[in-house]
Amino acid sequence: MKKRIAIIGAGPSGLAQLRAFQSAKNNGEEIPEIVCFEKQSNWGGLWNYSWRTGLDEYGEPVHGSMYRYLWSNGPKEGLEFADYSFEEHFGKQIASYPPRAVLFDYIQGRVEKAGVRDLIRFSTAVRDVSFNDGKFTVKVHDLPNDNAYSEEFDNVIVACGHFSTPNVPHFDGFETFPGRVLHAHDFRDAVEFKDKNILIVGTSYSAEDIGSQCWKYGAKTITVSHRTAAMGFDWPDNWSEVPLLTKMEGKIAHFKDGTSKEIDAVILCTGYRHHFPFINDDLRLRTANRLAAADLYKGVAYVHNPALMYIGMQDQWFTFNMFDAQAWWARDVIMGKITCPDKAAMIADVDARVAAEDAGETDYDAIWFQGDYIKELIEETDYPTFDVEGACNAFKEWKGFKKEGIMTFRNNSHKSVMTGSMAPVHHTPWKDALDDSLEVYLQN
Ligand SMILES: Cc1cc2nc3c(=O)[nH]c(=O)nc-3n(C[C@H](O)[C@H](O)[C@H](O)COP(=O)(O)OP(=O)(O)OC[C@H]3O[C@@H](n4cnc5c(N)ncnc54)[C@H](O)[C@@H]3O)c2cc1C
Ligand SMILES: NC(=O)c1ccc[n+]([C@@H]2O[C@H](COP(=O)([O-])OP(=O)(O)OC[C@H]3O[C@@H](n4cnc5c(N)ncnc54)[C@H](OP(=O)(O)O)[C@@H]3O)[C@@H](O)[C@H]2O)c1
Repeated sequence: MKKRIAIIGAGPSGLAQLRAFQSAKNNGEEIPEIVCFEKQSNWGGLWNYSWRTGLDEYGEPVHGSMYRYLWSNGPKEGLEFADYSFEEHFGKQIASYPPRAVLFDYIQGRVEKAGVRDLIRFSTAVRDVSFNDGKFTVKVHDLPNDNAYSEEFDNVIVACGHFSTPNVPHFDGFETFPGRVLHAHDFRDAVEFKDKNILIVGTSYSAEDIGSQCWKYGAKTITVSHRTAAMGFDWPDNWSEVPLLTKMEGKIAHFKDGTSKEIDAVILCTGYRHHFPFINDDLRLRTANRLAAADLYKGVAYVHNPALMYIGMQDQWFTFNMFDAQAWWARDVIMGKITCPDKAAMIADVDARVAAEDAGETDYDAIWFQGDYIKELIEETDYPTFDVEGACNAFKEWKGFKKEGIMTFRNNSHKSVMTGSMAPVHHTPWKDALDDSLEVYLQN
């Protein structure tokens, strides 16, 4: 009897898993039977843009956290697939910070070529995952037909992402604030905030990028409130950084240093939670958003039951090619080419990763920590090896460009570590490029 494998989610991580198995099949290997459950009606995960917020047409929480006009916040040279370059997909080298639609097209191109769409059951939400007598029972809901059913599997691969359930702190006075309070997860179109005074809480990528979008599309002022430290870039004149919000009184926001400002809308860029209510207690990953995730041997196999694997659960400098490295590794465990050690050794592996991450002090340490992790995984599989060091250096250059100009860093180009070619300079500076369609972006 063939093994049966369930993959939860058809975003970049789940698609990496499908591609990993298909690549083994292409090499003449016999692969297990695979079923991928995806609650949305299309693949691409967060890159599959949804205008919806709140609940979807079936009453399910909307997965999408991406917004209109989102461009990659890191260089594409750091995320390129080792088995499918940008040049192969677009027939030419493209600029380094593509908008969402361009990256969606790229992700889709590889899996269309691999011919794996038939393995995905779309509009099917996983409701429950449990483990008994050596088998997983996966209970799902076929949403359009309103039909719940269960199937058994030998392995489950959780690839459902972890940037969808918002972390939403409360601040006094939100109850009576006469404007919008929203989380980044529900932000869709910066044009809504044209001519408005906006307050952003948080200082990470959502804060930086949503603030920048609002600036680009004409917000009157942007005030960013920090809990730990200000971002400290050389911001435009109508942008200010303030300590943590203490309370709102009507439209007036008060901050820890005693200052205050009149505000029209508050956007909470306060991060996300690893939230997997559909997985039973004994199988559910509980981790902070960090590079060395808790309880995952090699960052993938769940130490308490390694037949269950999680892809893409780390905080992310690297994305698509890291998911690939993990997916190829998970595939080889399932196909018996890699053996997980006993539980004590798996826990020791996790502890060592946590200690190594904690020993790092700078963002560069973190980038190289994740780069080394990718190298470690790809050395154990046949995923095409690539110049991971070169990709780490692309991130280093990117950080330098951000310091030079937070509103201009996307105008720079980097060199592909897959093909060795340099990206062209984009035809329009990011701040003036209001049309982010694929057609316009590819006009180089
Ligand atoms: C606003 C934002 C911008 C980002 N920008 C970048 C960027 O510029 N560059 C970059 O490299 N990365 C970026 N990221 C990081 C992003 O996490 C990765 O690029 C990537 O999307 C992660 O892929 P994933 O498959 O792990 O998760 P996701 O993309 O979240 O996909 C998970 C999939 O699982 C499905 N799913 C979830 N629960 C269930 C269920 N119960 N049943 C069935 N299906 C389910 C979802 O519908 C979804 O399709 C960004 C993230 C956010 C939030
Ligand atoms: N264009 C793009 O490509 C783009 C755009 C947006 C997001 N992203 C991606 O999306 C992912 C998530 O990024 P994120 O910025 O949403 O989350 P994040 O990196 O987890 O950052 C969360 C932020 O919220 C703050 N915070 C949390 N709780 C708080 C509280 N109670 N009060 C005040 N501040 C609080 C944190 O502050 P402390 O520092 O004090 O903890 C931190 O600044 C990242 O992978 C990022 O790359 C990409």
